[in-house]
Amino acid sequence: MSYGIIQDVVLAANVLNDGGVIGMPTETVYGLAARADYEESVGRIFDIKGRPRNHPLIAHIAPETSPERWGQLNDSALKLAKEFWPGPLTILVPRTSEIGLWVTGGRESVAIRMPSHPVTQDLLRQVDDAVVAPSANKFGKVSPTTAQHVLNDLKNEVDCILDGGPSTVGLESTIVECIGNNVTVLRPGSVTALEISRVLHLTTSDTVGESRAPGMMISHYAPDARIVLVSTLNEANDRARTDEEHNLKSMVLNFESAEEYAVRMYDALRAADILNYQTVYAVLPATGGLGDAVRDRLQKAAAPRF
Ligand code: TXA
Ligand code: MG
Repeated sequence: MSYGIIQDVVLAANVLNDGGVIGMPTETVYGLAARADYEESVGRIFDIKGRPRNHPLIAHIAPETSPERWGQLNDSALKLAKEFWPGPLTILVPRTSEIGLWVTGGRESVAIRMPSHPVTQDLLRQVDDAVVAPSANKFGKVSPTTAQHVLNDLKNEVDCILDGGPSTVGLESTIVECIGNNVTVLRPGSVTALEISRVLHLTTSDTVGESRAPGMMISHYAPDARIVLVSTLNEANDRARTDEEHNLKSMVLNFESAEEYAVRMYDALRAADILNYQTVYAVLPATGGLGDAVRDRLQKAAAPRF
């Protein structure tokens, strides 16, 4: 049975503590959540998403809790946690035995994040372990930024969806690996490589990695519509007009700023599918800052599909 979309945080926490799998709001995107210590519930996440079991999950922890229960944070990791938590930064560190290999896909590292969304925090405080959550979409598809998106994608496969309003960042968290002497940004996000470098007194050439978190090199964040990247709005409009002359439906994706792009892009890509657009011409935002994260997602959405 599914409760559908709910506002009741206590009920959502009870569902998690009873072994359920729920849609969970966060400031980045909605997650598909279960208690980290419940192996069977975590298994259900992989089944619902259609995600390979060796593709590790992020452990979300409540504010005021010590991340050291789950991971071994070195100096860099501690500095980044102090500066950016709670918030949209995931820190990858060696795991402790508290975190099951069913969470890490068999790896000896764990990705930890302390979300800033007040509803998420409220929920996490009522669960006596970390809560693991990938984005609450089918594997390879567009991440959800509202409770309704989760309902559209996963319907009754989740026990409930906790509504925390639209995600305010709109893009998945930045992932930074802090293992040994290396600090590497594996996935760009709203906490930028430049900000990370400044806090650690490094240069971005030290910290910027290729986007190499597992499963991130293939097509990802992709709607059914084909995504074509263009550099100017004029080009997008010209190509859309040509399509129209051939009776093809295409959408132009373009926003004023990278921030607005981040907040609205996934909803727009979902709308493209609902409205049966064949092609989306996405005007790439300028590089730098959040623009890099938006470009990363658009490039993956435009990647060849297998
Ligand atoms: O903003 C976010 O991070 C959202 C919200 C729900 O918190 N979550 C999210 O999860 O984007 P997901 O599963 O869609 O992406 C997590 C990424 C994956 O690419 C995964 O491979 C990587 O994090 N990851 C997690 N644990 C890892 C580990 N131990 N080693 C390497 N990569 C890891
Ligand atoms: Mg995802």
